[in-house]
Amino acid sequence: MHAPTPDAEVLTEPLRSRWSPSSFDPDHVIDDADLDVLVQAARWAPSRGNSQPWVLVVLRRDGRNHAAWCGTLARGNAWVRRASAVLVTAVRIGPDPDAEPGSKAAREVPADYACYDTGQAAAHVTLQARALDLHAHQFSGMDLDAAAEVLGVPAHFRVLSGIAVGRHLPPTEDDLVEREGRPRERRTTGDALRDGGWDVPWPAPRGEGGAA
Ligand SMILES: Cc1cc2nc3c(=O)[nH]c(=O)nc-3n(C[C@H](O)[C@H](O)[C@H](O)COP(=O)(O)O)c2cc1C
Repeated sequence: MHAPTPDAEVLTEPLRSRWSPSSFDPDHVIDDADLDVLVQAARWAPSRGNSQPWVLVVLRRDGRNHAAWCGTLARGNAWVRRASAVLVTAVRIGPDPDAEPGSKAAREVPADYACYDTGQAAAHVTLQARALDLHAHQFSGMDLDAAAEVLGVPAHFRVLSGIAVGRHLPPTEDDLVEREGRPRERRTTGDALRDGGWDVPWPAPRGEGGAA
């Protein structure tokens, strides 16, 4: 089962089958080897100046801090509880006060690029998950300060998002059936992309938005 993703058939795997399910198998246990490959995918993502300005806090379902952290989830994100693991992303927002002066960790990271790099690491996790025949769903709906508190995140980092990972289970609850069956939509190619300059929209592929 896969949410409809019109126009995405041109992509190759694991991009083509990536989507964000909200129904995870609560009995699936992710093995340590898979979890390690997932975090390596983040670790090997590119970043500005190779600054790698993020930390992922890995929470296994029912493992250390999982239950307390679940208490920080937004009401609409209760589905995250069933995922086999959650990788909470924290972005570095300032230098490490304890770092060796002059070291990489002691340097400032421009905030925009720190977030950019963290998102890129997260994207790599989502694709690696597909390659392991798992699914990933990123989310930001949680009390970020409360999550930082529960996980002991230091002040020079800020919790940014989470990546729920697990095995998809076709949902039975009406709200999840509706959510998962909803066709995924994207801005049109011409709106999102330009050809050689801002003024020329990139041409829409055949069939996009009903075009011939
Ligand atoms: C930074 C970020 C935050 C998101 N926050 C939430 C969230 O709080 N709850 C949720 O259900 N989905 C969340 N999503 C998932 C998006 O809604 C989803 O990726 C988008 O609708 C496209 O659907 P698709 O991933 O299935 O293609 C988030 C995604 C990103 C990248």
